[in-house]
Amino acid sequence: MHPVFEAAAAAPAIPITFVTKTTWEAVSATLPEPAQHFAKANGFAAKPGECLTLPSVDGEIAHVIFGLEDDADKSRDLFRPGQLPGLLPPGAYRFANAPHDTRLAVLAFALGSYRFSRYRRTDAPNVRLVPPDDIDVADIGRIAEAVTLARDLINSPANDMGPEQLAQAAQELAQRFGAQFNCIIGDELMHQNFPLIHAVGMASPRAPRLIDLTWGDPAHPKVTLVGKGVCFDTGGLDLKPSSGMLIMKKDMGGAANVLALALMVMDAGLKLRLRVLIPAVENAVAGNAFRPLDIFPSRKGPTVEIGNTDAEGRLVLADALAFADEEAPDLLVDLGTLTGAARVALGPDLPPFYTGDETLALDVARCAKAENDPLWRLPLWAPYDSWLDSKVANINNAPSGGFAGSITCALFLQRFVDAAKSWLHVDIYGWTPSAKPARPEGGECQAARAIYKLLGERYG
Ligand code: BES
Ligand code: MN
Ligand code: ZN
Repeated sequence: MHPVFEAAAAAPAIPITFVTKTTWEAVSATLPEPAQHFAKANGFAAKPGECLTLPSVDGEIAHVIFGLEDDADKSRDLFRPGQLPGLLPPGAYRFANAPHDTRLAVLAFALGSYRFSRYRRTDAPNVRLVPPDDIDVADIGRIAEAVTLARDLINSPANDMGPEQLAQAAQELAQRFGAQFNCIIGDELMHQNFPLIHAVGMASPRAPRLIDLTWGDPAHPKVTLVGKGVCFDTGGLDLKPSSGMLIMKKDMGGAANVLALALMVMDAGLKLRLRVLIPAVENAVAGNAFRPLDIFPSRKGPTVEIGNTDAEGRLVLADALAFADEEAPDLLVDLGTLTGAARVALGPDLPPFYTGDETLALDVARCAKAENDPLWRLPLWAPYDSWLDSKVANINNAPSGGFAGSITCALFLQRFVDAAKSWLHVDIYGWTPSAKPARPEGGECQAARAIYKLLGERYG
């Protein structure tokens, strides 16, 4: 059970009534007269996110009134109730009426109580929610736990979250759910034919590795998740400026999110054969670093010319995707913090996804909307594929010019996938730049909740 839902049994839960500017007047009229005066004296106007705690005669908190956007408000935030844990005094609460979407409101409440407490005792809000009866709290608790895992992994600084620690997190997850775990480390990557993972990771004293987790009945449909695990991205010899490097501890956000998704899938016991592959590396600077215009073979075969050492994510994913593709999975999903271009196009909160499977595209878009885990389809625009041509090798990792950078990255990855029955690629950001309801500033779970819903529908 998620701690937010472990209600203190002692006192009865304090009711929270949701109001909008439209409903406030009518709700106000139902309150005892002193409460009406109190609200008025406090200038309560039922603005979205406005919170009023009404006292009882003996000075206890009797009732909470919380403002939501109007029904018709196009910019309404279904996670608005995620602000409550940060606003309310310690105690147990319950919803007295229905917010716009009760399930998402309960989830938001749990996600909004997250604090990153690894390095400092934070005053994580001791605010509990007695969930409404008709809500699947077990599932919401599992989703909230997965989000916490993704956020904690991303927020952990690179000095404590290198390839080894990332592998350890995956191994702990494997042990908890009885999954098989394997890890190919350092020069062994060369012997087992992962030349690109090795090339990107070799400059770091913290050895690169390929994390490999397998779970579930082999007779079930095969779903393989691949996550970019660049534990820190300096850019390599094509060094990032300090402003661009600052938050690159989050460059393992794809890995964090596939682990979050794996947690949900295994905990829910979905009827699928799961495989998780994470190329975990540090893109570092050293005398033995890979260089601009170096050429490497790839696992799949084609030779890759390094146009830019900062386009390292697609390199490590290429070998991992080729490996995944060898088993021809029913569904192959990769998540990674791959391009700045995706942020230029859609901003930090709306990751683009790519697939050639029209049914999958519709399902992903629908699930993303339903879970308030927004994703937006961009095209695998074939006419740009030739931009990846190299003059001396089979492919270049960074087309010059930078036009359509997220699309050309997706097209690069597509060259390494052909046997999978269906492929989904998501270019996530993995980070909330400034706090929003239910989304504290810092590492963020993106795409995993939407894909969990999709997998639940298909393999539940
Ligand atoms: N990890 C970065 C992408 C990134 C940067 C994500 C900033 C989110 C915020 C990736 O490895 C990268 O550096 N990509 C380059 C690719 C380019 C060199 C073709 C980029 O986007 O500039
Ligand atoms: Mn990079
Ligand atoms: Zn990167």
